[in-house]
Formats: sequence, C-alpha cells, structure tokens
Amino acid sequence: MNAKVKGSALLGALLAAGVFCTAEIRATEPAATPAPAQQFEDYGDTKVIAVEPIRQMFSHKSHVVTAGLSCDSCHPDLFARKRGTAKANGDYNMASLEEGKYCGACHDGTSAFNTTGPETCKVCHGSDMKQPETIVFNIPVKSVIFEHKEHVEMGLDCASCHDREFEMRVGAAEEHPEKFTMEALYAGKYCGVCHNGTDAFASNTRCTTCHIGVKGFERRFGAAKNAEQSHTDQKH
Ligand code: HEC
Ligand code: HEC
Ligand code: HEC
Ligand code: HEC
Ligand code: HEC
Ligand code: HEC
Repeated sequence: MNAKVKGSALLGALLAAGVFCTAEIRATEPAATPAPAQQFEDYGDTKVIAVEPIRQMFSHKSHVVTAGLSCDSCHPDLFARKRGTAKANGDYNMASLEEGKYCGACHDGTSAFNTTGPETCKVCHGSDMKQPETIVFNIPVKSVIFEHKEHVEMGLDCASCHDREFEMRVGAAEEHPEKFTMEALYAGKYCGVCHNGTDAFASNTRCTTCHIGVKGFERRFGAAKNAEQSHTDQKH
C-alpha cells in the first residue's frame, strides 16, 4: 500500500470518528508549496495552531518542510505534542518569547526573524498588534464606542478582556451580530463581564455612554469619518 492511499484511508477513518474539528484549524497560507502529504498524516495535518483569542499563526508545514526542521528541534523541549499545552503554562507571552522561550528559542533575529518587530508582528499575528485607542462598533447597531486607553489606564490588564471575551482582532465580535447583543451583555458576556452594575455601570443603564449614535460619532470624529464606515480609522 503506498503512503498516499494509506493516508486517505486514515483521514477517512478520522473523519468518520469525528476527530477533526474544522473550527480549530484555520488556514492562513494560500495553498502554495505542496507538501509531501505523508509527513503530515503522521500527526493529522496540523496546518495552523491559531490560538484564540490571540490570533497566532504557526504552520508545521513551513517549519518542517520549508525550513527543514526536525520534530525534535521543538518537541518535547520547547513544546509538548499537544495543542494548548504552552497556553496552559501561563507564561506564553511576548516577554517569555523575548527571553528565548517557546518560539523565541529560534525567533531571536539570528536563527529566524525576531519578535521585537515592528515589521515582524504581522508575520505571526496577521496584524501589527497595536491596540487601537478607539473602536467604534457598527454591527448590529451603529456607533457603540469603546476606548482602550481609558480601560487600560483604569488598571485593567489585557487578559481581563482578551483571555476569553474578546479576540485581539477588531471586527471579531461583529462577525457574530446574532451573539453580540444586549441580551448577551445582560447575561454577563462581552462588555457585560464588567458592565453589570458591580464592576462598572450596568449595561441596562446609561445607554448613551456606550451608544454615542451617528450624531455623537459625527460630533466626535467628523462626518467624513462616518461616511468611511470604518471602525479602525481611529487607530493612532
Ligand atoms: C518549530 C517548532 C515545531 C516543529 C519543528 C514541530 N512542531 Fe509539532 N508542534 C509545535 C507547536 C508550537 C505545537 C503546539 C503546542 C502547544 O499548543 O502547546 C505543536 C503541536 C504538535 C502536535 C499536537 C497537535 C494537536 O493538534 O494537538 C503534534 C502531534 C505535533 N506537533 C507533531 C509534530 C511532528 C510529528 C513534528 C515533526 C514532523 C513536529 N511536530 C515538528 C511546534 C513544532
Ligand atoms: C526550532 C526553531 C523555531 C521555533 C521554535 C519556531 N520557529 Fe518559526 N521559523 C523558524 C525558521 C528557521 C523559519 C524560517 C526562517 C525565517 O523566516 O526567519 C520560521 C518561520 C516562521 C514563520 C514564517 C513562515 C510562515 O509559516 O508563514 C512564522 C509565521 C513562524 N515561524 C512562527 C512561529 C511561531 C508562532 C512559533 C512558536 C509557536 C515558531 N515559529 C517557533 C524556526 C522556528
Ligand atoms: C514568532 C512569532 C511572533 C512574533 C514575531 C510576535 N509574536 Fe506576539 N505572540 C506570539 C505568541 C506565540 C503569543 C502567545 C499566544 C497565545 O497566548 O496564544 C503572542 C502573544 C502576544 C500578545 C499577548 C500576550 C502578551 O505578551 O501581551 C501580544 C500583545 C503580542 N503577542 C504582541 C506582539 C507584537 C506587538 C509583536 C511585534 C513587535 C509580536 N507580538 C510579534 C508570537 C509572536
Ligand atoms: C476592557 C476590555 C479590554 C482591555 C482591558 C484590553 N482590550 Fe484590547 N480589545 C478590546 C476589544 C473590545 C477589542 C475589539 C475586539 C473585537 O472587535 O472583537 C480589542 C482589540 C484589540 C486588538 C486588535 C487590534 C486590531 O487592529 O485588530 C489588540 C492588538 C488589542 N486589543 C490589544 C490589547 C492590549 C495589548 C491590551 C492590554 C494593554 C488590551 N488590548 C486591553 C478590549 C480590551
Ligand atoms: C474588564 C472589565 C470591562 C470590560 C470587559 C468593559 N469595560 Fe467599559 N468600563 C469598565 C470600568 C471599570 C469602567 C469605569 C467604571 C464605570 O464607569 O462604571 C468602564 C467605563 C466604560 C465607559 C465610560 C468611560 C469611557 O471609556 O468613556 C464606556 C463608554 C465603556 N466602559 C464601554 C465599554 C464597552 C463598549 C465595552 C465592551 C466592548 C466595555 N466597556 C467593556 C470595565 C470594563
Ligand atoms: C457597556 C456598553 C453598553 C451599554 C451601557 C448599552 N449598550 Fe447596547 N450595545 C452595546 C454593544 C457593544 C452592542 C453590540 C455592538 C453594536 O451593535 O454595535 C450593543 C447593541 C445594542 C443593540 C443591538 C443588538 C440588540 O441587542 O438588539 C441595541 C438595540 C442596543 N444595544 C440598545 C441598548 C439600550 C436601549 C441600552 C440602554 C438600556 C444599551 N444598549 C446600553 C453596548 C452597550
């Protein structure tokens, strides 16, 4: 039996067993460099470990095939062969990477591109990872304001919002307008984690503090900006 046939039989069995969760596997690479399929069938073609809520791109294929690294250059010393292990350690962050842990063992500017950017942030995260000062949500209703600066200056750390409720990606919550609703806020989700009347003013009060409305938006940012309809304009 050749490797390819064996592989597709294995894949069929895995699919039948419901082992594959497509939601967890997100492609970031355009289907370039066709890889020898059998190398990945060994471990189930883990194309991308996109760890949410912090979108991070990692491709086994680029490391094993393109860069020619052996499995033991990462496993088990830098990473366990189980997705989510690094995350569960509690120190999987940029500071550790800069100290040479995890991806930083190679991504130090010598063995591979560095993690101190600014131009490299995008390569791993798909964005420059700058916190936009002001975000204006327009879906499902127009002009709900969120200020990073004020929230961070209050002493809230990044994880208080980004460990679970919000991805570090503007537009992510708005991709689910059926979920991003007042009902969800009242149930303690999204902004409602804090805007519950105890940790911050309740979501069923002071509507216009969050909902600045189209007029409020124009007052604050000018009518021209509103016409652009973009929530990322106010980045800098
Ligand atoms: C450049 C580093 C690197 C190399 C080289 C590498 N891996 Fe991984 N591997 C990772 C990372 C990172 C994870 C995710 C670990 C985590 O989330 O804590 C992972 C996870 C895995 C997993 C778990 C997948 C899952 O969905 O749970 C398997 C299996 C695996 N690797 C097998 C291999 C094999 C086999 C090779 C060699 C062909 C290999 N890896 C080479 C970095 C690497
Ligand atoms: C064992 C060394 C090693 C480790 C550990 C490692 N990388 Fe890499 N990585 C490389 C090399 C070598 C390249 C290719 C050379 C370059 O681009 O500088 C590369 C390239 C990349 C690329 C560009 C290619 C692509 O896939 O788009 C990304 C993104 C990347 N690595 C992310 C990560 C992330 C995220 C981690 C940690 C989860 C990680 N790497 C861990 C060595 C490593
Ligand atoms: C080699 C890949 C790589 C590069 C380059 C990189 N990061 Fe990261 N970054 C990671 C990984 C891995 C994590 C941990 C992801 C997780 O928790 O799921 C992370 C987490 C983060 C976090 C959240 C945790 C923390 O440390 O605060 C921020 C913010 C961040 N990166 C910003 C940046 C910025 C800004 C740059 C550019 C200066 C950058 N990253 C470059 C891989 C990278
Ligand atoms: C009070 C909540 C809150 C805190 C605290 C917070 N953020 Fe955010 N952040 C958000 C929300 C909301 C979004 C937009 C998410 C969405 O649109 O789904 C966001 C988006 C982002 C983005 C995406 C930018 C882009 O261009 O896509 C980055 C990067 C980010 N935050 C970084 C940080 C960092 C770093 C910290 C800590 C210094 C932090 N945030 C603290 C709520 C918060
Ligand atoms: C981690 C907790 C937390 C989350 C999550 C959070 N907030 Fe807040 N927010 C606060 C606190 C604390 C205050 C200040 C206390 C008060 O005014 O009751 C505040 C104040 C505000 C204010 C008034 C001050 C200002 O920035 O102008 C607005 C508007 C606001 N939040 C909007 C939002 C929106 C919209 C979201 C969701 C996208 C959100 N917040 C998510 C904790 C949070
Ligand atoms: C803490 C901030 C905050 C407060 C306070 C708040 N909202 Fe919202 N509201 C949001 C966010 C965030 C969304 C979702 C994003 C969007 O629609 O732009 C939303 C969406 C909505 C929507 C559309 C989705 C749905 O649930 O039907 C309505 C209608 C709405 N709000 C009405 C209100 C009213 C009325 C009040 C006062 C009783 C109020 N909101 C108070 C943040 C807030």
